[in-house]
Amino acid sequence: MLKLKKFNTDLEKEWAFVRDMPENENGLTNSYNGVSKQEFEEKVLPEMLKHERGEDLPDWMVPETMLYLWKENEIVGQFRIRHYLTDALKNGSGHIGYFIAKEYRNKGYGTEGLKQTLQIARQIVPEDEIYLRVNKDNPASLKVMQKNGGKVVGDDEGHFFVRIPKKVECSEDCFVRKCQ
Ligand SMILES: CC(C)(COP(=O)(O)OP(=O)(O)OC[C@H]1O[C@@H](n2cnc3c(N)ncnc32)[C@H](O)[C@@H]1OP(=O)(O)O)[C@@H](O)C(=O)NCCC(=O)NCCS
Repeated sequence: MLKLKKFNTDLEKEWAFVRDMPENENGLTNSYNGVSKQEFEEKVLPEMLKHERGEDLPDWMVPETMLYLWKENEIVGQFRIRHYLTDALKNGSGHIGYFIAKEYRNKGYGTEGLKQTLQIARQIVPEDEIYLRVNKDNPASLKVMQKNGGKVVGDDEGHFFVRIPKKVECSEDCFVRKCQ
């Protein structure tokens, strides 16, 4: 079973995951690649906690929630929610970024992780739609977005811009999902 949990749940496993994430894969960046455990504990984690609360943010940054996707006792992916859009985010990477570790890809985890992330994002972001962006040469990620209701609304030279409605469409399982 896959479960999305907020960061700061398991220092050891979160550190190892962040340390091993590449610096940049398809535009998903990780400035903590190779970080030592001490630095993660003393600098990175406190910084993440502050950034989620909107404290000490650099000019370009909005509050961001960091989530990990767990499969039983292992972290398989990382999902980030940027709480609202600036012009740069609107025309750039949007609300959500995600990463699934190489050994866990093509098992549906990206799709399920985005589904669970959207449930949280819908309660945080003030905009009417969830904005996403994907490199044109990243068909796996585009598929993950489309399987979560994403529609391509535009493009530039290297990217597709994708939007997902914030309101969940009423359907037969309406009573279960409690349409918002
Ligand atoms: C993009 C990413 C999150 C996908 O994660 P994942 O767990 O493999 O995704 P899923 O298994 O849920 O779905 C992948 C889908 O893409 C398809 N796919 C994979 N490679 C593909 C390719 N080269 N061409 C077309 N489709 C492809 C898979 O078949 C699957 O579709 P299906 O379920 O209909 O068969 C993962 O590859 C990743 O972390 N990449 C690096 C970081 C990144 O690109 N982040 C997104 C930035 S926008």
